[in-house]
Amino acid sequence: MKILFEKAALGRLFLKNRLVRSATWEGLADGKGCLTRPLLDECEAIVRGGVGCFVAGFTSVSDLDPGFGGMARLSGAVHVAGFRRLAEICHNAGCAAIVQLALSEFSREKNGGIQCGLEPCELSEADLQTVESLFVAAAERACEAGLDGVQIHAAHGFFLSRFISPAWNRRTDAFGGSPENRGRLLAHIVHAIRTVSPSLHVSMKVNSSDFTPGGLEPAESLAICKLCAESGLESVEVSGNGTSVPGIRAGVNEAYFKDFALLLAEQVEIPVILVGGHRSPACMEAVLNEGNIGFLSMSRPLIREPDLPRRWQAGDSASAACISCNSCYHTPGHQCVFTLKEGGKGR
Ligand SMILES: Cc1cc2nc3c(=O)[nH]c(=O)nc-3n(C[C@H](O)[C@H](O)[C@H](O)COP(=O)(O)O)c2cc1C
Ligand code: SF4
Repeated sequence: MKILFEKAALGRLFLKNRLVRSATWEGLADGKGCLTRPLLDECEAIVRGGVGCFVAGFTSVSDLDPGFGGMARLSGAVHVAGFRRLAEICHNAGCAAIVQLALSEFSREKNGGIQCGLEPCELSEADLQTVESLFVAAAERACEAGLDGVQIHAAHGFFLSRFISPAWNRRTDAFGGSPENRGRLLAHIVHAIRTVSPSLHVSMKVNSSDFTPGGLEPAESLAICKLCAESGLESVEVSGNGTSVPGIRAGVNEAYFKDFALLLAEQVEIPVILVGGHRSPACMEAVLNEGNIGFLSMSRPLIREPDLPRRWQAGDSASAACISCNSCYHTPGHQCVFTLKEGGKGR
């Protein structure tokens, strides 16, 4: 019998409970992609709220990645100090610290300019090597900053998610075609990070399905997760395109990617983390005990109530106050609209 608030091993990381803060982009990094005081304050509020593991939001591995305003980067030495502070904040709260490493799109320098938005089939083998090197170098910086791990972002339609998807990857070489071929770049990245930075936990966030005609299907995602596990992946977080499903009601439609996560957890030895729609401790413990899913991750509930884990652990089992309206996608610093209306900072 698994319970939410018990110590559990996420690979080589020992967590104080089974709750993970899923990567959540705040849009509060400065113009260079360095973590700012307001961003670190928000992280601190969440880790003090009791999660066992904190995954820092979308952090680009490349200086050339156009990304979005306020995007964090770990693409140069200048970014290390902010992540060192983040690691300290997490560790002071007894929480493991992981950063989500990502590429929104691949860009390269050419003839003095920058070619942006290149799709999988437009990358040369040298470009693929560049992608791998960017992730490996960012992971080395994460290690230097004292973080416990990295999460490779292969979900939600960003570059690596498109690379593993048949809807986007039309390559005809060893990196296209079968799921194993489309997963090869990911597997190489995992293997290279494990080799160069062996102390880091290496995780991955992946789509259970693209939910798109011609896109990644569950059976293919399963094959790619298995390939990455064989290459040294230590945990996998299950998500899907359209990840923040609106209108979640406690006890009614929670844990919306659960079926795939249960299947995956039967077929890989590494811990499976499930994100998406966890709102009540009763349902969450039922999910944990339905099969081999080991950890549950949350984003929106912690935007509205950073101290939700502490509240639940203290015995107040009322479901999360978040109504899954997704308005926080459109507020400054991705704050909860209800917190803003109340005039305070919720996190
Ligand atoms: C404001 C906001 C920012 C997000 N940023 C990221 C991100 O940087 N990386 C990521 O993988 N998912 C991101 N997500 C998706 C969440 O991590 C999560 O997968 C999704 O919201 C479903 O979980 P929930 O029901 O607990 O919110 C974001 C979600 C929200 C609401
Ligand atoms: S705005 Fe608030 S209530 Fe709505 S989804 Fe975001 S955190 Fe939840």
